[in-house]
Amino acid sequence: MTPEIAYDELAPRLSRWPDVEAHDLVAADASDRLILAEAGPVAGEIVVIGDRYGALTLSLLRADPDLRLRVHQDPLTGERALAANAERIGQDLTGRVTWHDLDASLTAGAKLVLLQLPRGLDALDEIAGVVADHADSDVRIVAGGRVKHMTRSMNDVLGVHFRSVRASRGVGRSRALHASEPIRGAGEAWPRSVHTDIDLTLCAHGAAFAGASLDVGTRFFLEFLDGMPHAESVIDLGCGTGAIAAAYARSRPAARVIASDRSSAAVASARETMRANGLADRVDVVRDDGLGSRPDGSADLVLLNPPFHSGAAVTDAIAPRLFADAARVLRPGGELWTVWNSHLRYRPQLERLVGPTRQIGRNRTFSVTASRRR
Ligand SMILES: C[S@@+](CC[C@H](N)C(=O)[O-])C[C@H]1O[C@@H](n2cnc3c(N)ncnc32)[C@H](O)[C@@H]1O
Repeated sequence: MTPEIAYDELAPRLSRWPDVEAHDLVAADASDRLILAEAGPVAGEIVVIGDRYGALTLSLLRADPDLRLRVHQDPLTGERALAANAERIGQDLTGRVTWHDLDASLTAGAKLVLLQLPRGLDALDEIAGVVADHADSDVRIVAGGRVKHMTRSMNDVLGVHFRSVRASRGVGRSRALHASEPIRGAGEAWPRSVHTDIDLTLCAHGAAFAGASLDVGTRFFLEFLDGMPHAESVIDLGCGTGAIAAAYARSRPAARVIASDRSSAAVASARETMRANGLADRVDVVRDDGLGSRPDGSADLVLLNPPFHSGAAVTDAIAPRLFADAARVLRPGGELWTVWNSHLRYRPQLERLVGPTRQIGRNRTFSVTASRRR
């Protein structure tokens, strides 16, 4: 069976769970099928990067019982969805799939890399560099995505790391890019860091939100830092590069701070940010889906600049899940401070899920609110 035929069988049975689910959000699409079709014959050990919910990995495993895969998925929810989908379809992953960080262990000696294109060019640059620097000199990347999310600049980024880059014809509103002939050591190294005007050094891997710069929403949120409660146990939920955790920890030397994110790029970036600012012994950085590993009633303060993207899709379904998680983990009387784009009108949800909510600040774009846990 070819991987595309395996895909046709499996795709309707795949789910995004535990990631957000909504009628317009899918677990697999024509770009997964195109990547598999464009890869041509597959054998031995293959590297899969950016597989969203397991469509690539599970199709390959089903097509050839001898294939082994090294997999990197940035969000923890992607790893969990792949595992849950494998269980649903009765696919044993033992001995056939290993998960890796985005480093040499993922791509060393690889000859074929299948890539679901990331949203950002920096994320693509870091991936292309890790492949070009460590894979076999005969390596091929077959990368794909929906045409509406692809730009010519993606070819240029791949062209920094590979001598040969060409595009397939479009199929089902999707397109594949083929890259080969790696150039070792091209491009700038990751993570990258910047010393910001709020006197914090931010470090970022390619896939981290806002890169090595301060997001405008985060900047507005931090204008209210002095007014935030002096808490002992504090969580920066969805920490990205760790700007909020670092700023809070620096201003409250007695606080114990946890910085938490589902993205492996975010977690690696936030750890670097803490080291760069001398805060590594005061801020614990963890990879988690929401606050899944934190006990009920264990925190005094949760700080949150919530996401509104799930992959390439914009959705307002993620933030309420994080509000509910914050409510569970806060002790009664503890507070959730959050910043959000005012048009999203999160206030009724904050009132309902957490408790009485007051406005701390507002500008033309953002609102900052504090919600007290009932
Ligand atoms: C808008 S960014 C904010 C990043 C950082 N706090 C800042 O202010 O620059 C939201 C972050 O939430 C993370 N995120 C999204 N869904 C998550 C989830 N279910 N659990 C934990 N983190 C999540 C994203 O990876 C992203 O880093």
